[in-house]
Amino acid sequence: MRVAVYPGSFDPTTNGHLDIIKRTSKLCDKLIVAVLENPSKVPMFSVEERVAHLNEILKDCSNVEVKSFSGLLVDFVKSVNANVVIRGLRGVTDFSYEFQMALTNKSLDREIETLFISADTQYLFFSSSQVKEIAIFGGDIDNMVPEIIKKEISKKLKEE
Ligand code: PNS
Repeated sequence: MRVAVYPGSFDPTTNGHLDIIKRTSKLCDKLIVAVLENPSKVPMFSVEERVAHLNEILKDCSNVEVKSFSGLLVDFVKSVNANVVIRGLRGVTDFSYEFQMALTNKSLDREIETLFISADTQYLFFSSSQVKEIAIFGGDIDNMVPEIIKKEISKKLKEE
């Protein structure tokens, strides 16, 4: 069985992430969306909230599973018996960071391959950080995130 891991912070999940997940899930038997719990970053949403959002968004995707992880990505990939890491690329700026990360992971575990998938043109120009910033300043994020994320961001901003 071909198991791939799509790791990220998903703080929050964007339509760009969703596009990569849907396209990649067709290329493997099982896709594990792996949400990083990173103690050195203060996220907008806790890891539990991010996993819950993804579970809701992906409830109809039968071969996609959502898990959280902490520590090294290569250790997580091995623990779920996968050997492929999926990363989306929006352009050359992503490439230098992603290439370095792929090489680092390769140096940590030679059995693990990173596959890059190009983002769809409509998702090339924004990131989770920009979505948060736009939302904080009252901008329109309708075309950038799934409906549930829009609602959750607005709930979170009201709590603050
Ligand atoms: O969506 P992001 O924040 O760009 O995802 C980055 C992620 C989670 C893929 C990366 O930070 C990661 O794999 N972190 C786990 C720690 C690790 O394995 N570091 C060594 C490789 S750089």
